[in-house]
Amino acid sequence: MNVKLWNTLVVCILTCFHISTFAYSAQAEAALTQEVCSVTDDTVRPSPALALRGVALDDIKDACLGCHFTGTAIADTGREGRGCNVRKTPDGNGLRVEFQIHDDKYVKCVLVDLTDGEGGVWARKVGTGYKKIADGVEVGVPFGDVSGKDGYEVFCLFAAPAEIALCNRCAGPIKCALIPKPREMTLTGGTCSATVLNVERVVGIPAEGYELSVTANGVTIRASDDAGEFYARQTLEQLGGPRFVAASDGTAPVPPSFIPCCEIKDSPRFRWRGVLVDDARHFMGKETIKRTIDEIAKYKFNVFHWHLTDDPSWRIDVPGYPELLDYGDQYLADNNQKRMSAGPRAGRRYYTKEDVKDVIEYAAARHVKIVPEIDFPGHFFAVACAYPEFACDPESVRRQGRWPMVTGFKQGREPMCVGNPDAVKFVEAAIDAVCDLFPESDVIHIGGDECHFEYWNTCPKCQALMKRENLEKLQDIQAWLTRRAVRRLEERGRRAIGWDEILDAPPGVLPPATMGMYWHYRGEKRTASAAKTGHELVATMFRYCYFDYRQGLADDPCRYIGGYLPLRKVYTFDPFWRLPPECRENVIGGQCCNWGEFTFSGKDLEWKLWPRAMAMAEILWTYPEPKNRDFADFERRATVQREALVARGVNAAPVK
Ligand code: ACM
Ligand code: ZN
Repeated sequence: MNVKLWNTLVVCILTCFHISTFAYSAQAEAALTQEVCSVTDDTVRPSPALALRGVALDDIKDACLGCHFTGTAIADTGREGRGCNVRKTPDGNGLRVEFQIHDDKYVKCVLVDLTDGEGGVWARKVGTGYKKIADGVEVGVPFGDVSGKDGYEVFCLFAAPAEIALCNRCAGPIKCALIPKPREMTLTGGTCSATVLNVERVVGIPAEGYELSVTANGVTIRASDDAGEFYARQTLEQLGGPRFVAASDGTAPVPPSFIPCCEIKDSPRFRWRGVLVDDARHFMGKETIKRTIDEIAKYKFNVFHWHLTDDPSWRIDVPGYPELLDYGDQYLADNNQKRMSAGPRAGRRYYTKEDVKDVIEYAAARHVKIVPEIDFPGHFFAVACAYPEFACDPESVRRQGRWPMVTGFKQGREPMCVGNPDAVKFVEAAIDAVCDLFPESDVIHIGGDECHFEYWNTCPKCQALMKRENLEKLQDIQAWLTRRAVRRLEERGRRAIGWDEILDAPPGVLPPATMGMYWHYRGEKRTASAAKTGHELVATMFRYCYFDYRQGLADDPCRYIGGYLPLRKVYTFDPFWRLPPECRENVIGGQCCNWGEFTFSGKDLEWKLWPRAMAMAEILWTYPEPKNRDFADFERRATVQREALVARGVNAAPVK
């Protein structure tokens, strides 16, 4: 939706409204007291109150429902009762609302068609034919441009979203395209144009949950915690359209107006609703990170998983290891993915203590918890470049060059030499550094994925470690390190989460409080057995959650790592997939992940996240039963929300 047009329309309507008096026909009187019809799933439904009064839709056909503005009569309509008329659309399938607004010089008519289909804006000079002046789904009329002083009339016709309430005073559409869909919502009829917003703390409402009452007299939010209130405000903002956007900034509250009266009871199904951004492959920068956090919070995500280290770079300072930050830009600036063997450095790119503090505060204000990740013992090549002796074969690292291209599966994949006590010391220092930088993060991600531990087979130091610690298999080396890391985090009062590979540790090695993030499904062998031994799990199965997979667009300007993950498929994601029922309680949520090999900028990131992250948001908050998911309904709401994202300047991909 074009927000400028919408705002123009609203401002004009309000302006006219203030100078208006009301008049209506006797036939319409009954209908007039009922301010709202609702349109859901393409079906026009009078509000229950309207039906109670025995006024069917046909009865209000051609009735004058709206305001009578002072001014010139409109010759075209031939009716005295100028204002809003409601009639069926020419094809009989929908509802058409016609209203007129004018000042003392000219008159404008607006038609709103409440059916799906192509829309547009038409204008004409009084007495001449209509000319289409804009295509597509538009809300609002560019009054200044076409109606000016020279007597244009303007007609606006637009395709309705799935759920719409109509304000009878202005016939303005009120979009109720909420994502995530609330658990319980009833449109009670009428609209709220009051400026009262009450917030109450009520014990017993679930954590992060809220109740929202919108009546003609005002809005009441009830919640047991600050997060619940925050999520109620996000819902309110979505109900109120773009004019409510300012409210979530925590700045001046925006008075509610033209919000459909409704009762909502809502709370999340999962307590971990995450988005991962890979900041190690390509540097996103603080502003992109903050912007991402702002947008995900609007859709009720509460975890930002910040992937800060990987083979190409390390984005945070570890005191005592200054060389590390010289490897922050392994990829060439021109994105051609060629190996950068001897070229100039693009410069240190990392997040300072001040940057991190700024991001933490920004996220906290939006009830988003940051889970920082440092990845080891695999995906460790940036460290190896800086300190080759921390890899099993320092010469191999040196041979590969200091700025290698590392998207291959062999090259640059040398893991940490766990048998080297200095490397272990480094990991512990890195854990301390991340704890110091993120004092509020009660969960720290310790990576653990895709470690090429075959290097340990031929490393004397790692072999000596195996002997000394009675480790049977190479994987047990990783388990030994993971246990140390988990312990170190516990000493700092934090919990560890790692990719599902860490769950391969022999029974009893990992404390049960260690969490697993499962990107594979390995059935009984790993995922289910981990749940059975008490580990909490976060679902990130790559086939459904990896947004570096191609989406369903014919002409997509972005590059992807491969795969195929259109919006429709994301909407089928089930965090419980193939898990035995007794393991379900241990699944605390899920997460979408954008890996960064081919995400070169913040704009690329936005394109890959939206609209797909909306599907993830709904699954993790509302969890519609997989068998009953209504993708068509979601798609229509996503289309409306995508317009809102674009209006906020987000480079969201089309809903396809
Ligand atoms: C991963 O995709 N390597 C976690
Ligand atoms: Zn080694």
